[in-house]
Amino acid sequence: MNKIIAAVEIGTSKMKVLLGEIRSQQALNVVGFGSIESFGVKKGELVNFKVASEQVHLAIDLAEKSAGVQAEEVYLSVTGSHLGGSFNLGSARVSSADNVVVRNDVARAIEEAKRKELLDDRIYVHFIQNPFHLDGRPVEDPLNLQGSLLEVGYWSVDGDEKVIKDLLHVINGYGLEVGHVIASSLASGEIATSRADRKAGALVIDFGAGATDYVLYRDGCAAKTGVVPIGGDHLTNDISMGLRVDERHAESLKKEHGRAFCGEEDDDLRVWLIGNKMIGDRDVSRKAIRQVVAARVEELFQILAEELEGYLEPDHLGSGIHLTGGGSLLPGITEVASSALGLPAKRAELPTGIVEELRNPEFATVLGLLHFGLTGQSQVNPVRSKGIGRALAKIFGR
Ligand SMILES: Nc1ncnc2c1ncn2[C@@H]1O[C@H](COP(=O)(O)OP(=O)(O)O)[C@@H](O)[C@H]1O
Ligand SMILES: [Mg+2]
Repeated sequence: MNKIIAAVEIGTSKMKVLLGEIRSQQALNVVGFGSIESFGVKKGELVNFKVASEQVHLAIDLAEKSAGVQAEEVYLSVTGSHLGGSFNLGSARVSSADNVVVRNDVARAIEEAKRKELLDDRIYVHFIQNPFHLDGRPVEDPLNLQGSLLEVGYWSVDGDEKVIKDLLHVINGYGLEVGHVIASSLASGEIATSRADRKAGALVIDFGAGATDYVLYRDGCAAKTGVVPIGGDHLTNDISMGLRVDERHAESLKKEHGRAFCGEEDDDLRVWLIGNKMIGDRDVSRKAIRQVVAARVEELFQILAEELEGYLEPDHLGSGIHLTGGGSLLPGITEVASSALGLPAKRAELPTGIVEELRNPEFATVLGLLHFGLTGQSQVNPVRSKGIGRALAKIFGR
């Protein structure tokens, strides 16, 4: 039997676990899965260790039982507004007399790019190498090429050490070690786009329950990632407050009648709250539901547009916007995304060859995590195991 990897997402709406077995040529060999309601998590961060742990452990147990095998290593996603990121450029003058780039020049440029120290309570989650530039020209591998100034940029993702440590302890409580921590945006991005999409340039937006994660790819590399603390739960809350209905009904009104924009045809139409007039049902205005939803969706895309200012030129984003996460099922979301960000948008296609139940945008992150786990870090450019290793080394004190 080959190694069994567990992909674990401690989500705001659900704890999701996929088990996969490493087999050559099969990037998504799912052998078991468990998904269970989430408690104790808000906006992607733990707010109640005990109840969140219980739910995560149940989900892992379900996945192991369905597979009939035990997990050996965990790939864990991390999200929340504690995640930060920055782009750091390193450069080196080519040292040889004949202007040919040698290993030492490359090492100096990389070292400079990674020099930035974080504050004490922050750790690096990823160092993502972007293309080298030699005298301003992009090159894949600068070794042995002629030039005088070598530059390399890194998009680094950092997070709050305590928040990440708490997540690791949840997994340790089941008797498992976390091998790799991966930002949710990068996990979703990996599964929502193809290598060709990333090469052409793409923006992946994972509209989850508590938060929205995004990653922007340029020239095949993740050039920016981020988390906006607005998700589907906010739409539900707004409906609940605005229409004075409880959360459970608000959630089903959103799924049945919600839309990301509001049109004239919505005037005057009323919908039933419960669908059963005999038991004192109430009717509510469909327009009111859609207005509430549209306002929050507009706010989300306004924040995205501000955070991505300067990154959205269509020339660099040939593959456009790929929407995923449960919130991407909201009707009209692609139209709103497209007009707010000025790029073509579509719902991401998830890979075929997996059971239909998992071909759901809510599973994008765990599918991406499993893909990372089963293909091995070396092949999943741009995420470098070094950055993750270093982050974990600090956490585990190794
Ligand atoms: N058909 C739908 N229309 C609108 N929102 C939906 C729909 N289906 C699911 N959602 C929303 O998607 C969110 C769950 O997405 P998910 O990606 O699983 O979140 P997370 O990973 O943060 O737990 C919830 O807020 C849910 O209401
Ligand atoms: Mg998610």
